[in-house]
Amino acid sequence: MAATNPVVIAIDGPAASGKGTLSQRIADAFGLAHLDTGVLYRAVGVSVLRAGGDPADNAAAAKAAYALDPDHPILREVELRTDAAAQAASKVAAVPEVRAALLDFQRRFTQHPPGGAPGSVLDGRDIGTVVCPEADAKLFVTASVEVRAERRLKELRNRGIPAIPSDVLEDMKARDARDSQRAVAPLRPAADAFVLDTSALDADEVFARAVAHIGSKTGLRPTA
Ligand code: DC
Repeated sequence: MAATNPVVIAIDGPAASGKGTLSQRIADAFGLAHLDTGVLYRAVGVSVLRAGGDPADNAAAAKAAYALDPDHPILREVELRTDAAAQAASKVAAVPEVRAALLDFQRRFTQHPPGGAPGSVLDGRDIGTVVCPEADAKLFVTASVEVRAERRLKELRNRGIPAIPSDVLEDMKARDARDSQRAVAPLRPAADAFVLDTSALDADEVFARAVAHIGSKTGLRPTA
C-alpha cells in the first residue's frame, strides 16, 4: 500500500474472542478511527425484525442493508447489543447482497477515516480476507468456544441479564457454525494474519502482543 494511503488494521475473530475490546484499545493507542463492523450487521438484522420480516429473507435483508448510512441513528441503539440482534445479524450476514452493500460502507470508512484520523481499525469476521485484503496489519483473535461462552455469560450477568450456561454455549456454537460455514466470506484467518489465541491471556497481554505485531508490520508506535 502506498505511504499516502490511510493505514488499515484488520482485526477478525469469532464472537466473544475479545476482538472488540482489543480493537477499541488499539485504535485509541495509535490515534486511529475504529469501526466495529458487527454493528452494521446487527443494525440490518434489527431493522428487518422491526419491519416484521425474517432476517433470513434475502430481499428484506438486502433492502435494510442498502438503507444503512453512517449517520443512521440505529447504529447507536443499545438494542443492537442483545442476543436477538446477534442471532439476526448472523442470519443477514449470510445474504450476498447484504455483504455487498456493507462492503462499500466499510471501504468508504477506510478511505476517509472520520475525524481526520490517519487511518482506521476495523474489526469483524472478513476484514483481512475480503473487506481489506491489503490491510497493513491483520490479526485473528480467537479463543476456545468454552472460554468464549464463559466470557459471554459473565458479560450478560454483569448487565443483569439472566442466562443459562448451556444455552449460551449452544448459541455460541450455532453462531460459530453459521459464521464459518456460510458460502460468502466465511469466518477464517487470512493467510497472512497473526493468530492470537486469547484463551489463556489477560487483556493486557493480548494488547501487548497486538501492539508488537502492528509495530513490526507498520512501524507505528502507540501515541497514547
Ligand atoms: O461481532 P458481532 O458479534 O457484533 O457480529 C454479529 C454478526 O455479524 C456475526 O454473527 C457475523 C456477522 N458479521 C459478519 O458476518 N462479518 C463481519 N465483518 C462482522 C460481523
